[in-house]
Amino acid sequence: MNQLEVLRESLGQCDEIVLDALLMRNRIVEDIMAYKEANDIPILQPEQEAKQREWLNRRMEGRRHKDEVTAVFEEITRNSKRIQARKLFDYNIVLIGFMGAGKSTISDFLRTVFAMEVVEMDQIIAEREGMSISDIFETYGEEYFRNLETELLIEMQSKTNVVISCGGGVPMRERNVVEMKKNGRVVLLTAKPETILSRVKDNHDRPLLEGNKNVDFIAGLMEKRREKYQAAADIVIETDGKDKLEICEELVQRIRTLDAEE
Ligand code: S3P
Repeated sequence: MNQLEVLRESLGQCDEIVLDALLMRNRIVEDIMAYKEANDIPILQPEQEAKQREWLNRRMEGRRHKDEVTAVFEEITRNSKRIQARKLFDYNIVLIGFMGAGKSTISDFLRTVFAMEVVEMDQIIAEREGMSISDIFETYGEEYFRNLETELLIEMQSKTNVVISCGGGVPMRERNVVEMKKNGRVVLLTAKPETILSRVKDNHDRPLLEGNKNVDFIAGLMEKRREKYQAAADIVIETDGKDKLEICEELVQRIRTLDAEE
Protein backbone atom coordinates (compact mmCIF):
# COMPACT_ATOMS: atom_id res chain seq x y z
CA MET A 1 0.00 0.00 0.00
CA ASN A 2 1.31 3.44 -0.82
CA GLN A 3 0.93 6.28 1.64
CA LEU A 4 -2.18 7.68 -0.03
CA GLU A 5 -3.92 4.35 0.29
CA VAL A 6 -2.94 4.12 3.96
CA LEU A 7 -4.31 7.60 4.64
CA ARG A 8 -7.55 6.78 2.86
CA GLU A 9 -7.94 3.68 4.88
CA SER A 10 -7.46 5.66 8.10
CA LEU A 11 -10.06 8.15 6.93
CA GLY A 12 -12.44 5.30 6.23
CA GLN A 13 -11.90 4.03 9.78
CA CYS A 14 -12.69 7.50 11.13
CA ASP A 15 -15.91 7.56 9.15
CA GLU A 16 -16.88 4.19 10.60
CA ILE A 17 -16.36 5.62 14.10
CA VAL A 18 -18.33 8.77 13.28
CA LEU A 19 -21.14 6.71 11.77
CA ASP A 20 -21.36 4.38 14.76
CA ALA A 21 -21.26 7.34 17.14
CA LEU A 22 -24.06 9.08 15.24
CA LEU A 23 -26.26 6.00 15.22
CA MET A 24 -25.63 5.53 18.92
CA ARG A 25 -26.38 9.19 19.57
CA ASN A 26 -29.68 9.01 17.71
CA ARG A 27 -30.70 5.98 19.71
CA ILE A 28 -29.90 7.81 22.93
CA VAL A 29 -31.98 10.80 21.79
CA GLU A 30 -34.92 8.43 21.32
CA ASP A 31 -34.30 6.82 24.71
CA ILE A 32 -34.24 10.23 26.41
CA MET A 33 -37.58 11.08 24.83
CA ALA A 34 -39.08 7.79 25.91
CA TYR A 35 -37.78 8.34 29.45
CA LYS A 36 -39.26 11.85 29.60
CA GLU A 37 -42.58 10.55 28.31
CA ALA A 38 -42.68 7.67 30.76
CA ASN A 39 -41.78 9.87 33.73
CA ASP A 40 -43.82 12.98 32.85
CA ILE A 41 -40.77 15.18 32.50
CA PRO A 42 -41.10 18.22 30.19
CA ILE A 43 -40.04 17.37 26.64
CA LEU A 44 -38.66 20.84 26.03
CA GLN A 45 -35.49 21.62 27.93
CA PRO A 46 -33.75 24.40 26.02
CA GLU A 47 -31.17 24.83 28.80
CA GLN A 48 -29.68 21.48 27.73
CA GLU A 49 -28.83 22.91 24.32
CA ALA A 50 -27.14 25.91 25.93
CA LYS A 51 -25.05 23.58 28.12
CA GLN A 52 -24.00 21.57 25.10
CA ARG A 53 -22.94 24.72 23.27
CA GLU A 54 -20.89 25.87 26.25
CA TRP A 55 -19.21 22.47 26.44
CA LEU A 56 -18.26 22.60 22.78
CA ASN A 57 -16.93 26.13 23.06
CA ARG A 58 -14.79 25.13 25.98
CA ARG A 59 -13.48 22.00 24.26
CA MET A 60 -12.69 23.82 21.01
CA GLU A 61 -11.20 26.97 22.58
CA GLY A 62 -8.17 28.00 20.52
CA ARG A 63 -8.17 24.80 18.46
CA ARG A 64 -7.96 24.46 14.70
CA HIS A 65 -11.18 23.83 12.75
CA LYS A 66 -13.33 25.28 15.50
CA ASP A 67 -15.82 26.70 12.99
CA GLU A 68 -16.01 23.49 10.99
CA VAL A 69 -16.55 21.33 14.05
CA THR A 70 -19.11 23.78 15.45
CA ALA A 71 -21.04 23.65 12.16
CA VAL A 72 -21.17 19.84 12.34
CA PHE A 73 -22.45 19.96 15.91
CA GLU A 74 -25.10 22.49 14.94
CA GLU A 75 -26.29 20.04 12.32
CA ILE A 76 -26.25 17.19 14.85
CA THR A 77 -28.40 19.26 17.22
CA ARG A 78 -30.81 20.09 14.40
CA ASN A 79 -31.00 16.43 13.58
CA SER A 80 -31.89 15.52 17.16
CA LYS A 81 -34.67 18.08 17.10
CA ARG A 82 -36.01 16.60 13.87
CA ILE A 83 -35.97 13.11 15.38
CA GLN A 84 -37.97 14.36 18.36
CA ALA A 85 -40.45 16.30 16.23
CA ARG A 86 -41.07 13.34 13.93
CA LYS A 87 -41.60 11.05 16.87
CA LEU A 88 -44.07 13.48 18.45
CA PHE A 89 -46.11 14.50 15.42
CA ASP A 90 -46.64 12.74 12.10
CA TYR A 91 -48.99 15.43 10.81
CA ASN A 92 -48.98 19.21 10.56
CA ILE A 93 -49.66 21.51 13.48
CA VAL A 94 -52.15 24.19 12.53
CA LEU A 95 -52.20 27.24 14.78
CA ILE A 96 -55.37 29.32 14.73
CA GLY A 97 -56.60 32.21 16.80
CA PHE A 98 -57.37 35.89 16.84
CA MET A 99 -54.89 38.46 15.59
CA GLY A 100 -52.24 38.83 18.27
CA ALA A 101 -53.07 35.54 19.99
CA GLY A 102 -49.44 34.46 19.55
CA LYS A 103 -49.55 32.23 16.46
CA SER A 104 -46.37 33.66 14.92
CA THR A 105 -44.47 33.70 18.21
CA ILE A 106 -45.34 30.10 18.97
CA SER A 107 -44.53 29.00 15.41
CA ASP A 108 -41.14 30.63 15.69
CA PHE A 109 -40.49 28.90 18.97
CA LEU A 110 -41.54 25.51 17.56
CA ARG A 111 -39.07 26.13 14.74
CA THR A 112 -36.33 26.80 17.29
CA VAL A 113 -36.99 23.82 19.56
CA PHE A 114 -37.97 21.19 16.98
CA ALA A 115 -36.34 22.53 13.80
CA MET A 116 -39.78 22.31 12.19
CA GLU A 117 -40.59 24.06 8.96
CA VAL A 118 -42.99 26.96 9.52
CA VAL A 119 -45.52 28.15 7.01
CA GLU A 120 -46.61 31.63 7.96
CA MET A 121 -49.70 31.93 5.76
CA ASP A 122 -49.89 35.73 5.66
CA GLN A 123 -46.23 36.02 4.85
CA ILE A 124 -46.33 33.46 2.03
CA ILE A 125 -49.44 35.04 0.51
CA ALA A 126 -47.88 38.51 0.70
CA GLU A 127 -44.65 37.24 -0.89
CA ARG A 128 -46.45 35.44 -3.69
CA GLU A 129 -48.70 38.39 -4.46
CA GLY A 130 -45.81 40.82 -4.16
CA MET A 131 -47.75 43.12 -1.82
CA SER A 132 -48.72 43.52 1.82
CA ILE A 133 -51.93 41.99 3.24
CA SER A 134 -53.36 45.51 3.56
CA ASP A 135 -52.65 46.17 -0.14
CA ILE A 136 -54.20 42.83 -1.17
CA PHE A 137 -57.40 43.75 0.72
CA GLU A 138 -57.44 47.19 -0.84
CA THR A 139 -56.65 46.10 -4.39
CA TYR A 140 -58.60 42.86 -4.76
CA GLY A 141 -60.91 42.72 -1.74
CA GLU A 142 -61.26 40.33 1.16
CA GLU A 143 -62.87 37.46 -0.81
CA TYR A 144 -59.83 37.23 -3.09
CA PHE A 145 -57.54 37.07 -0.05
CA ARG A 146 -59.70 34.36 1.58
CA ASN A 147 -59.49 32.26 -1.61
CA LEU A 148 -55.71 32.44 -1.48
CA GLU A 149 -55.86 31.16 2.10
CA THR A 150 -57.98 28.16 1.06
CA GLU A 151 -55.59 27.30 -1.80
CA LEU A 152 -52.58 27.46 0.49
CA LEU A 153 -54.19 25.12 3.04
CA ILE A 154 -54.87 22.57 0.30
CA GLU A 155 -51.26 22.87 -0.87
CA MET A 156 -50.03 22.11 2.68
CA GLN A 157 -51.79 18.76 2.83
CA SER A 158 -48.98 17.12 0.91
CA LYS A 159 -46.53 18.09 3.67
CA THR A 160 -46.05 16.66 7.11
CA ASN A 161 -44.45 17.88 10.35
CA VAL A 162 -44.93 21.49 9.33
CA VAL A 163 -46.24 24.25 11.59
CA ILE A 164 -48.91 26.22 9.77
CA SER A 165 -49.53 29.61 11.29
CA CYS A 166 -52.93 30.73 9.98
CA GLY A 167 -54.11 34.27 9.54
CA GLY A 168 -56.80 35.10 12.12
CA GLY A 169 -59.67 34.84 9.64
CA VAL A 170 -58.81 31.42 8.18
CA PRO A 171 -61.16 29.28 10.36
CA MET A 172 -64.13 31.49 9.51
CA ARG A 173 -64.62 29.53 6.31
CA GLU A 174 -65.99 26.04 6.86
CA ARG A 175 -64.11 24.77 3.82
CA ASN A 176 -60.83 25.91 5.38
CA VAL A 177 -61.48 23.98 8.56
CA VAL A 178 -62.19 20.83 6.54
CA GLU A 179 -58.94 21.32 4.61
CA MET A 180 -56.75 22.06 7.66
CA LYS A 181 -58.02 18.98 9.49
CA LYS A 182 -57.17 16.60 6.66
CA ASN A 183 -53.53 16.43 7.71
CA GLY A 184 -53.35 18.64 10.78
CA ARG A 185 -54.06 18.94 14.45
CA VAL A 186 -55.68 22.30 15.04
CA VAL A 187 -54.48 24.29 18.04
CA LEU A 188 -56.47 27.38 19.05
CA LEU A 189 -54.50 30.03 20.93
CA THR A 190 -56.61 32.45 22.94
CA ALA A 191 -55.94 35.67 24.85
CA LYS A 192 -58.03 38.33 26.54
CA PRO A 193 -58.91 41.41 24.44
CA GLU A 194 -56.67 43.55 26.69
CA THR A 195 -53.73 41.23 26.02
CA ILE A 196 -54.45 41.26 22.28
CA LEU A 197 -54.57 45.06 22.25
CA SER A 198 -51.22 45.35 23.99
CA ARG A 199 -49.68 42.96 21.45
CA VAL A 200 -51.08 44.56 18.27
CA LYS A 201 -51.16 48.24 19.13
CA ASP A 202 -47.99 49.22 17.27
CA ASN A 203 -48.51 47.02 14.19
CA HIS A 204 -50.08 48.37 11.00
CA ASP A 205 -50.36 45.29 8.81
CA ARG A 206 -53.78 44.22 10.07
CA PRO A 207 -56.35 46.06 7.97
CA LEU A 208 -59.27 44.90 10.12
CA LEU A 209 -57.77 46.58 13.18
CA GLU A 210 -56.66 49.87 11.65
CA GLY A 211 -58.69 52.61 13.33
CA ASN A 212 -60.21 49.99 15.65
CA LYS A 213 -57.49 49.48 18.16
CA ASN A 214 -59.59 49.39 21.29
CA VAL A 215 -60.77 46.69 23.68
CA ASP A 216 -64.46 47.03 22.71
CA PHE A 217 -63.86 46.43 19.01
CA ILE A 218 -61.49 43.54 19.66
CA ALA A 219 -63.87 41.95 22.18
CA GLY A 220 -66.76 42.32 19.71
CA LEU A 221 -64.95 40.75 16.76
CA MET A 222 -63.63 38.03 19.02
CA GLU A 223 -67.13 37.21 20.17
CA LYS A 224 -68.33 36.99 16.56
CA ARG A 225 -65.57 34.51 15.83
CA ARG A 226 -65.61 32.52 19.02
CA GLU A 227 -67.98 29.77 17.92
CA LYS A 228 -66.14 29.03 14.68
CA TYR A 229 -62.73 29.10 16.35
CA GLN A 230 -63.89 26.68 19.05
CA ALA A 231 -65.54 24.38 16.54
CA ALA A 232 -62.34 24.16 14.48
CA ALA A 233 -60.03 23.47 17.43
CA ASP A 234 -58.75 20.08 18.54
CA ILE A 235 -57.02 21.80 21.46
CA VAL A 236 -57.48 25.23 23.08
CA ILE A 237 -54.58 26.92 24.87
CA GLU A 238 -54.95 30.13 26.85
CA THR A 239 -51.86 32.28 26.43
CA ASP A 240 -52.46 35.10 28.94
CA GLY A 241 -49.63 35.34 31.45
CA LYS A 242 -47.69 32.39 30.01
CA ASP A 243 -44.34 32.48 28.27
CA LYS A 244 -43.66 30.72 25.00
CA LEU A 245 -41.89 27.77 26.62
CA GLU A 246 -44.90 27.10 28.86
CA ILE A 247 -47.28 27.41 25.92
CA CYS A 248 -45.25 25.03 23.72
CA GLU A 249 -44.85 22.50 26.48
CA GLU A 250 -48.61 22.59 27.04
CA LEU A 251 -49.12 22.17 23.31
CA VAL A 252 -46.87 19.11 23.18
CA GLN A 253 -48.47 17.48 26.21
CA ARG A 254 -52.02 18.15 25.07
CA ILE A 255 -51.34 16.83 21.57
CA ARG A 256 -49.80 13.69 23.05
CA THR A 257 -52.88 13.15 25.22
CA LEU A 258 -55.10 13.65 22.19
CA ASP A 259 -53.10 11.14 20.13
CA ALA A 260 -53.19 8.63 22.98
CA GLU A 261 -56.97 8.89 23.17
CA GLU A 262 -57.43 8.17 19.48
C1 S3P B 1 -56.93 38.63 9.69
C2 S3P B 1 -55.79 38.32 10.40
C3 S3P B 1 -54.44 38.64 9.92
C4 S3P B 1 -54.43 38.73 8.38
C5 S3P B 1 -55.49 39.66 7.91
C6 S3P B 1 -56.91 39.25 8.34
C7 S3P B 1 -58.24 38.31 10.29
O1 S3P B 1 -53.53 37.63 10.37
O2 S3P B 1 -54.65 37.46 7.83
O3 S3P B 1 -55.19 40.93 8.40
O4 S3P B 1 -59.25 38.29 9.56
O5 S3P B 1 -58.28 38.01 11.51
P1 S3P B 1 -52.97 37.51 11.89
O6 S3P B 1 -53.99 36.79 12.69
O7 S3P B 1 -51.73 36.73 11.74
O8 S3P B 1 -52.76 38.89 12.38
